[in-house]
Amino acid sequence: MSNTIQKNREYKKYVVDSKLQYFKPHATKIEKTFAEEVSSSLNADLKFISPKYFYDKKGSELFEKICLLPEYYPTRTEVTILKKLQQELPSFLDDSFRIVELGSGSSVKTRLIIDVFAKLQNKIEYFPIDISEILTESSEQLIHDYDNLHITGIIDTYEGGLEFLKHYDDKKNLITFLGSSFGNFSPSDGYLFLKKIHSTMKSGDLFLIGLDLVKEKHILESAYDDTQGVTAEFNLNVLSRINDELGGNFNLKNFEHHSIYHEKEQRIEMYLKSSQKQSVIIPKSNLLLNLEKNQLIHTEYSHKYRLSQIHDLLDDAGFELKHTWLDENKYFSLTLVTKK
Ligand code: AVI
Repeated sequence: MSNTIQKNREYKKYVVDSKLQYFKPHATKIEKTFAEEVSSSLNADLKFISPKYFYDKKGSELFEKICLLPEYYPTRTEVTILKKLQQELPSFLDDSFRIVELGSGSSVKTRLIIDVFAKLQNKIEYFPIDISEILTESSEQLIHDYDNLHITGIIDTYEGGLEFLKHYDDKKNLITFLGSSFGNFSPSDGYLFLKKIHSTMKSGDLFLIGLDLVKEKHILESAYDDTQGVTAEFNLNVLSRINDELGGNFNLKNFEHHSIYHEKEQRIEMYLKSSQKQSVIIPKSNLLLNLEKNQLIHTEYSHKYRLSQIHDLLDDAGFELKHTWLDENKYFSLTLVTKK
């Protein structure tokens, strides 16, 4: 183990073997804690819980289940597009690129990109960036399956990981951000995030972003309110997490999953609806929460885009379009850009 300083943030390096290493910041707690964030977001007039808190172990497992639901078209559609992109991506690459993945994602998608590199390079470098230590499990499996793969995992926030990457070396990066996770940002945070990616990239680096497209309301609404109730369980699980980690006493039976597509804003809005007037105590957030019957707690936005908007968004953030790939129904998109 050794220490590395990357611009104000100190990382500890964990070397597992010659093909696998991780960097993890020391506990420089700049981010607000879960307890503090919940305290202010549930105290606000328009109550909310940030969607980043969905992903504890149970929440991550439920999300994997969502990805396999018949109604949830994004994952399988993106996989179809990635298979098409596999043929064409090599023409944008050379043997000096490494893969950087924001959110280590489903290994199916990662493998489709690694397979492209495997045909071009003798030594493939893969840098997954994820706040969750879960990335260590998928990394070990990948190392096992690909002989010539070298993984450097960065266990940090996306912003922290991108800053780390910026100061790491001069190697060319293909940064991928798949699954339309970008759609979960508010428009202003999304713009700032694109600028952050842009400032991390060197000239010649590439950025591949997967974004969900606007489509009929009923298709969108059933993707976020499936008949098996997995999305409902995923949404409600954030209350269990508050109970487990912050000592809360939410009774999950008193809440309903509520999800609607807002056409003007082009987004799914997900809420937890209080089915009765009730009070909840969250000791570690020092909070007594009084809720009216039908009061909503906002938990997620999932924005959907038109192609022209994607191109404008990327153009405004300083990117130059290389190519956009779509599925035959035009449900989902993958766009490759470089720095202008
Ligand atoms: C992770 N993210 C892109 C998912 C989405 O579709 O917005 C999260 C999700 N929420 C409900 N279902 C899936």
